[in-house]
Amino acid sequence: MAIRSPLQIRDAHRRIQVNSMTIRPYEPSDFDAMRDWLPDARAHAMWCANRFAHPLEQDNFEAVLRENAARSGDAPFVAVADDGRVCGFFCYALNPDTRVGLLKFVVVDPARRGIGLGRAMLKLALEHAFNDTGARSVRLNVFPENLPALRCYEALGFTIERIDPGAFRFGDEAWSRCGMRRYPEAADR
Ligand SMILES: CC(C)(COP(=O)(O)OP(=O)(O)OC[C@H]1O[C@@H](n2cnc3c(N)ncnc32)[C@H](O)[C@@H]1OP(=O)(O)O)[C@@H](O)C(=O)NCCC(=O)NCCS
Repeated sequence: MAIRSPLQIRDAHRRIQVNSMTIRPYEPSDFDAMRDWLPDARAHAMWCANRFAHPLEQDNFEAVLRENAARSGDAPFVAVADDGRVCGFFCYALNPDTRVGLLKFVVVDPARRGIGLGRAMLKLALEHAFNDTGARSVRLNVFPENLPALRCYEALGFTIERIDPGAFRFGDEAWSRCGMRRYPEAADR
């Protein structure tokens, strides 16, 4: 199953035109593209709250994905850019009782950040959530210290619902956990 959509991303000065990004389920052969996306321990922790071992290693990564799939129905996806290369990853699950979707582990290839790929990938993820799975809203958690991610989610129409101060420790740092939600009618900017 591949979800394909022509995306008219504004062709602003630092953006690329994303015409035909695709999201599709993660396959083990995708791991090689991703293994070095979060080389430093702090960025890795900001991404996944250390749910995966650092450095990222395929057996552990896929074992955690399987556990999450069994426990909460998480489905792992990759984003494939116009040039056919894997450029992003996220997990998505729908709570069938509340019909709230949950996005996790959103990441874009560091060599290609800041040019609109995260925005394009999340737009496709939201289309999938609202149109294919019937989500009434989509939630995610982010450390607000992770400013690029926080700003990215705000740009996509997510709003902050709650902040738990000091929810996660990394070395001598205490990061807050920020819960954000996006409704189908919300606009991105
Ligand atoms: C968060 C992440 C996925 C964003 O992906 P991206 O492809 O760089 O984002 P985009 O280029 O599509 O930017 C989308 C919006 O994000 C915001 N943004 C992106 N990078 C930013 C930065 N360095 N500083 C501030 N805002 C930033 C902007 O609002 C931008 O909108 P604009 O283009 O209108 O200015 C990427 O930074 C990433 O992979 N981070 C590491 C993994 C991680 O921490 N994930 C979050 C887990 S909760």
